[in-house]
Amino acid sequence: MKKEIVLSGIRPTGFLHLGNYFGAMRNYVRMQDEFDCYFFVANWHSLTTHPDTKTLQESVLRVVAENIACGLDPEKVSLYVQSDVPEIAELYLYLNMLAYKGELEKTTTFKDKIRMQPDNVNAGLLTYPVLQAADILIHRAVKVPVGKDQEQNLEMARNFAERFNYRYGEIFPMPYAFNYNSELVKIMGLDGNGKMSKSENQMTTLFLADEDDMIRKKVMKAKTDQGPLAPNSKKPDYIENLFTLMSLVSSADTVKKFEEDFNNSSVGNCVIRYGDMKKQLAEDMVGFIQPIRTKATDLQNNKDLLIKIINQGADKARASASTTLNLVRQAIGMKYV
Ligand code: TRP
Repeated sequence: MKKEIVLSGIRPTGFLHLGNYFGAMRNYVRMQDEFDCYFFVANWHSLTTHPDTKTLQESVLRVVAENIACGLDPEKVSLYVQSDVPEIAELYLYLNMLAYKGELEKTTTFKDKIRMQPDNVNAGLLTYPVLQAADILIHRAVKVPVGKDQEQNLEMARNFAERFNYRYGEIFPMPYAFNYNSELVKIMGLDGNGKMSKSENQMTTLFLADEDDMIRKKVMKAKTDQGPLAPNSKKPDYIENLFTLMSLVSSADTVKKFEEDFNNSSVGNCVIRYGDMKKQLAEDMVGFIQPIRTKATDLQNNKDLLIKIINQGADKARASASTTLNLVRQAIGMKYV
């Protein structure tokens, strides 16, 4: 039986962190055995917000290396760089004729971004959802593992696909957001404020590239308080977050011990010691991140191998992309040879 097609894109605009790992990459790794997977680095998209390309190449290679270090197997999936697949750009061109200025101006991400860069409201920013639709439709993918913030872009991709199908013939299946657990693991920053993020305070985000001592330092600085005021209290967000992190990287026994300590604590009898909890979490976090970091660094030091891997990814992606593009050209009547 033909496997369903999964596709997702990663913007190369920062270092990958623990939130990316548990929110996205861990799921990609699981999907690679079940589906026909395409994962790519969206370097064209990054030009809409980051026109300076001095560090772009390095970031692209780092993202590829980090994804492999997290368990993506380039033999099983197609792991490629967007700009290596020119077929995407041609499909983007056709889809642009089916996208309306009004609907593009209304998207939340566009409105957010022009607020952030009022001096650079470029057409690429406006048509960002069209390029994203081309990324997805070029492989006729049906499952797109993305977070909530991407729902609107997916809805637009379905709209463009539907318009295309209606006007030129049924080529595209409808793509939908897809994740295993209906509830994605949410990881907050270590200060308990908002999601762990690459752009916010760097000291409250654990990056996959962080050195051991940096990991320890960040975990030890995580926000705590004087402890619960009564047995079986409700945990404040920032404490809950430490337990979430612990449940992801520590042994079940360790988590159980600190859960019990928390639940048995009250004013004047605080059994849980957050200092000890953070020390344990720091060590387990080092144990978790270290092998990923080492593997990613080794790969980044082996540029030849990385280039070989993305070339191989591009070959696989282009084979699929050119099949779709041929159908598209035929359907529109753009095929003369
Ligand atoms: N817009 C996505 C983000 O900001 C990245 C992306 C680009 C993407 N093209 C895609 C995601 C196609 C899924 C499918 O994270």
